[in-house]
Amino acid sequence: MEFNILVLDGDGIGPEVVAQGVRVLSTAGKRLGHRFNYTYHAIGGAGIDTYGNPLRNETIEEAKKSNAILVGAVGGPKWDDPKAAVRPEQAILGLRKALDLFANLRPVKVFPSLKSASAVKPANIAKADMVVVRESTGGLYFGEPKQITETPSGRTAVDSMVYSEEEIRRILKVGFEIAKSRRKKLTSVDKANVLATSRLWRDIATEMGHREYPDIALDHILVDTASILLIKNPRQFDVIVTENTFGDILTDEAGVLTASLGMLPSATLSGSNTDKQNSSLGLYEPIHGSAPDIAGTGKANPIGTILSAALLCDYSLGLPKAAKMINRAVETVIREGHRTSDIARLGQTSISTEEMGDLIAQKVDSL
Ligand SMILES: NC(=O)c1ccc[n+]([C@@H]2O[C@H](COP(=O)([O-])OP(=O)(O)OC[C@H]3O[C@@H](n4cnc5c(N)ncnc54)[C@H](O)[C@@H]3O)[C@@H](O)[C@H]2O)c1
Repeated sequence: MEFNILVLDGDGIGPEVVAQGVRVLSTAGKRLGHRFNYTYHAIGGAGIDTYGNPLRNETIEEAKKSNAILVGAVGGPKWDDPKAAVRPEQAILGLRKALDLFANLRPVKVFPSLKSASAVKPANIAKADMVVVRESTGGLYFGEPKQITETPSGRTAVDSMVYSEEEIRRILKVGFEIAKSRRKKLTSVDKANVLATSRLWRDIATEMGHREYPDIALDHILVDTASILLIKNPRQFDVIVTENTFGDILTDEAGVLTASLGMLPSATLSGSNTDKQNSSLGLYEPIHGSAPDIAGTGKANPIGTILSAALLCDYSLGLPKAAKMINRAVETVIREGHRTSDIARLGQTSISTEEMGDLIAQKVDSL
């Protein structure tokens, strides 16, 4: 079969990790007799530098014609001027909004051989395996008004957390459905003691749990408690569903469990393909940012991007076999002891971004 993939490298380490994701994806495709056609567009800071625009309409149109989108990360100090009219982040947020990709799935799995590389006690993280379902087109990142205004007594800034009932229902449905296919436990994370949006969220979750998903064990916890339990006892979580900002922060925290932010992949979907039965357009990216502190040094860990390529095969291309091959190749390379510097223990030899990509591609070819 033939598939069209839009590749958006972005900034900083984006191009470095995406190159390895594409290499591994192509190797899996070739082994299984599929053909992937890649189209590259500049977005984020690179889009601002080239076109004066972080996300052009041409890119959105190209995305609509594609089977999937593979993204690196955007942003960096060069484009950090708070007064700038255009910002790199507008690319990712704009794509999610334009394509209505509202369900950001972030699987968090601790590789047994990396337990000791985590800053968290190995006993706490053993067997941690969860999926965080993060709402990704609403909440604080999108709500209006959002502005800084001059007032006689100084500047005032406002961000708005807005959620409609429909937006909450559709993301909760994704959470319940994923829980159904796993250990049947859904934890809804909110801040219902303070926020009106959270009280509506909790109300709808409780009602859906009773009426539509009586077989799923649903519990509600406050986001502050969630941030503690994620470190103290992550094994208790199966599926977490939460709003945009909380999900963003909690999954970065979850990166600590897996030894590095560079290990975590993500898929952002429209909801129709979360059961993997109806392949449709999705956006796949590692959860980390553009890591300007290590860009160009060959130190970036490409595994989050490579695992995102596996999710891409599973959710958007309908190629579970390719996804399994990639996941197995990553597991094997890690088990054999190969490490980029972010996941190496003190004194352990580390390899470069490209060497890690090479090893994983070779495993995909040979396993
Ligand atoms: N989706 C996105 O495009 C996205 C997400 C988050 C942050 N950002 C942007 O990225 C820029 C940098 O943000 P930040 O420094 O807060 O977060 P970051 O995720 O880029 O980096 C945080 C830390 O993790 C390390 N790290 C991240 N990815 C790594 C990898 N693959 N391998 C090894 N180490 C890795 C970095 O070196 C850094 O020390 C900012 O401009 C921010 O806005 C973009």
